[in-house]
Amino acid sequence: MSGAGVTPISNLTLAKVADLGVVVSGNGGPMDYRSAANFLALGARTVQFCSAVMKYGVGVVGELHSGLSHLLEARGLGSVAELIGRALPGPVTDFMQLPAAKQISHAEAELCVHCGNCTRCPYLAIALDAEGVPHTDPERCVGCSFCTLMCFTGALAMRDRTPEEAAALRES
Ligand SMILES: Cc1cc2nc3c(=O)[nH]c(=O)nc-3n(C[C@H](O)[C@H](O)[C@H](O)COP(=O)(O)O)c2cc1C
Ligand code: SF4
Ligand code: SF4
Repeated sequence: MSGAGVTPISNLTLAKVADLGVVVSGNGGPMDYRSAANFLALGARTVQFCSAVMKYGVGVVGELHSGLSHLLEARGLGSVAELIGRALPGPVTDFMQLPAAKQISHAEAELCVHCGNCTRCPYLAIALDAEGVPHTDPERCVGCSFCTLMCFTGALAMRDRTPEEAAALRES
């Protein structure tokens, strides 16, 4: 298996072997510097890329370098070594310990280009207003975050519900 779809499996595998005390190289799924940084934070000492290079060409290596450098700087980390294992111990939250409170999607109007991709919400919870900015119906939104994956500008993100929005949840 290879490519982005494998990344969650690789993340879980890295989390599971983190306590074994062996040196691990992360492989399977990373297509950008963020997923590579997640591998490192889960304890991988190095990260391997195959699909990313096949898809984007060897030039992607420069982007991986600059992206990771940017991330380290933004997080106040002085080196890759400081990132390795950063998410440990206990990087995986047990299912039963996940909070019951559901989040809701919210659009940052300045970043929105009004493409309407997010209105393909499977729960029909998003509609564009007269200015083309999406608004999420707190009664319909189930907090799945699918819409944020469809927004290519980063305008849409999940946030905590206000008390009024929490009260509007149909199941509450
Ligand atoms: C077209 C292709 C050819 C591959 N050839 C080999 C190979 O010869 N030997 C090997 O150990 N892995 C091979 N792999 C597996 C990759 O090294 C890598 O483990 C896998 O693609 C997962 O990483 P990725 O998600 O970055 O692609 C190949 C993968 C692809 C897609
Ligand atoms: S989080 Fe899910 S349910 Fe809520 S608006 Fe986005 S796609 Fe629809
Ligand atoms: S997908 Fe993103 S950019 Fe497009 S309308 Fe929705 S919030 Fe705006």
